[in-house]
Amino acid sequence: MTKPYVIDEMISAKSIAARIEALAGEIKDTFADTDKLVVVGLLRGSFVFIADLVRELDLNVEVDFLEASSYGDSMETSREVRILKDLRGEIGGRDVLVVEDIVDTGFTLSHVTQLLETRKPKRLETIALLDKPSRRETNIRATWTGFEIPDEFVVGYGIDYAQRNRNLPFIGKVRFT
Ligand code: PRP
Repeated sequence: MTKPYVIDEMISAKSIAARIEALAGEIKDTFADTDKLVVVGLLRGSFVFIADLVRELDLNVEVDFLEASSYGDSMETSREVRILKDLRGEIGGRDVLVVEDIVDTGFTLSHVTQLLETRKPKRLETIALLDKPSRRETNIRATWTGFEIPDEFVVGYGIDYAQRNRNLPFIGKVRFT
């Protein structure tokens, strides 16, 4: 059950698009010598971000997905990151970019990068659209961050509240009424 709430726009679709264009340029420069970059989206929250990001990336890319979950439908992390779906492809010796929608405590990105490093990629970098540094409980920091945000409960652009609102084209702040 969800409590009644309204959503206030926090980051517009236009601002997100502009930031992604800039980030894609930086990623392209970093991976300029790659034959093919494996772009790994962490499901489910990153599905909108990865779709927009890869279309701005002027590189050969392969898209793969990994599903990790630590929240379920709860607002609190369980601190136990479960891998619900692993990659389809091999990443040993390859250039890899992990795409995350939001880094909050950091447990998800930390767990996933540790797991993927055991597969010995040539280079592994990370990108998160949103970062809430005030909530961090791990040392992880994404290589690239779209926007640093305060400790607000956000939805939209792939991010849910109890599986709702992932389809909003902007990032919104949840305000309980
Ligand atoms: C959310 C979000 C990030 C993670 C961030 O995933 O998509 O992956 O939490 O939180 P953390 O930094 O505290 O680990 P969730 O487990 O809710 O799954 P979802 O992506 O399917 O919504």
